[in-house]
Amino acid sequence: MALEEGARSSLLRFRHQLEQDIKPSYLMDHMISDGVLSVDEEEKIRTLATRKDQAVALLDLLLRKDNRTYISFYNSLVKETYDDLATLLHEYLPRLSPGATKNASDGCTPYVQTVLSEGGVPQRPVVFVSRPELVNQIREKLYRLQKEPGWVTVFGMAGSGKSVLAAEAVRDHSLIEECFPGGIHWLSIGQLDKPDLLVKIQALCFRLEQGLDSQSLHRPPNSLDEAKERLRYLMLRRYPRSLLILDDIWDSMVLKTFDIHARILLTTRNRSLTDSVGGAKYEVEVESGLDEKKGLEILALYTDNKPHGLPKEARSIVRECKGSPLVMSLIGALLKEKPNRWCYYLRQLQQKQFKRIRKSSSYDYDALDQAMAASIEVLPPEHQELYKDLTVLEKDIKIPAKVLSVLWDLEPEEVEDILEEFVNKSLLYVDINHKPYLYYLHDLQTVMCAVSSRSFCL
Ligand SMILES: Nc1ncnc2c1ncn2[C@@H]1O[C@H](COP(=O)(O)OP(=O)(O)OP(=O)(O)O)[C@@H](O)[C@H]1O
Ligand SMILES: [Mg+2]
Repeated sequence: MALEEGARSSLLRFRHQLEQDIKPSYLMDHMISDGVLSVDEEEKIRTLATRKDQAVALLDLLLRKDNRTYISFYNSLVKETYDDLATLLHEYLPRLSPGATKNASDGCTPYVQTVLSEGGVPQRPVVFVSRPELVNQIREKLYRLQKEPGWVTVFGMAGSGKSVLAAEAVRDHSLIEECFPGGIHWLSIGQLDKPDLLVKIQALCFRLEQGLDSQSLHRPPNSLDEAKERLRYLMLRRYPRSLLILDDIWDSMVLKTFDIHARILLTTRNRSLTDSVGGAKYEVEVESGLDEKKGLEILALYTDNKPHGLPKEARSIVRECKGSPLVMSLIGALLKEKPNRWCYYLRQLQQKQFKRIRKSSSYDYDALDQAMAASIEVLPPEHQELYKDLTVLEKDIKIPAKVLSVLWDLEPEEVEDILEEFVNKSLLYVDINHKPYLYYLHDLQTVMCAVSSRSFCL
């Protein structure tokens, strides 16, 4: 969709102010993750000598782009707290009416794209494979929020595709129209401290207030308590039928700030987070990884091949990736750059050289070992040591807590508590159909364990 005239003229009108003030490098990071700017385009701008040159080039590019890019640029300004500049551009944010556009076969109509762009929901990754079963499970739970507020938790281990699935689940015309006509508001959380959390909520409140009449603009809330109350008011009174997506929550204290009787979808590696908040709760576990066919599809898409035309190492690479979308996409992106390295990357995977498996992308961690180590680093130090001991477990071998009680020389009850913590944090699986419960490492968790013992050796 070409850039609307109003949006184009607002860029031209405020061009001078934008060029004076913006820092393009930060804004472009957000725009890349929204999929409206390519890495090549960003590099061309980033290599220009001064900040001002970069700003001029970015504005030039925006004028040649479309409505979605304008919305993404506006959202980046909000995220980087350029509130005054965002206000200038707000009046001409492109809008589409739902009824006029309902014909795309996969439910992702221009109306959906606009709602999601406005709410800051990330685009699909450039290479994307569908996971209909999980997406439908999440949608089914979201439909239950139609009647009453509550929480849908999508949980699973590092890089299992939770954030991509959450964004995909709301990419649906009927779901938005029937359940969340007030909009979908995405907030990336991650591991942050209270001041940073406050800044994020301030930006969200600003975005929500901008969508209303101008009298609703207030000064930013200046404490977390105030931010919580402001958000409660906005979600309850001004956006009553909207969905808040909290991506990548680590801390139940953070979640309590959002305990405001709203409709919330959250992604986390920690299953037990919602224990501390009230209301209806639903869960979707992202347990199974991608199968071989989908894995080959990812490698083929990255390397511009057909799945059956891939070299013979492809199957072994997919097997070593243990179904992880993250690992497959990291390897795929590397092979795109260096198409003659199939053997090399297979060897790196077999030798568990995770530090070498890195790429630049919108994913939060640069390298595979960092993504996984983050889960282990939030354990108390003494539990990190115990987790490292689990490297003795072979994949899918199931053991009762009693065995570990001998290994660790701890009371069985204490061992059960520790194992429950590992399970809740997606570091271990439990078979509850067996009494006593049996614990086991599954696929990539064996890799995580190896990462943890390696990081202690360094
Ligand atoms: N359906 C998919 N198709 C293609 N690639 C995918 C898909 N899902 C995930 N990926 C790839 O895996 C990466 C990690 O996915 P995602 O960020 O959703 O994981 P996550 O479970 O949210 O991880 P974390 O626990 O670190 O937040 C993405 O950046 C993307 O490259
Ligand atoms: Mg995530």
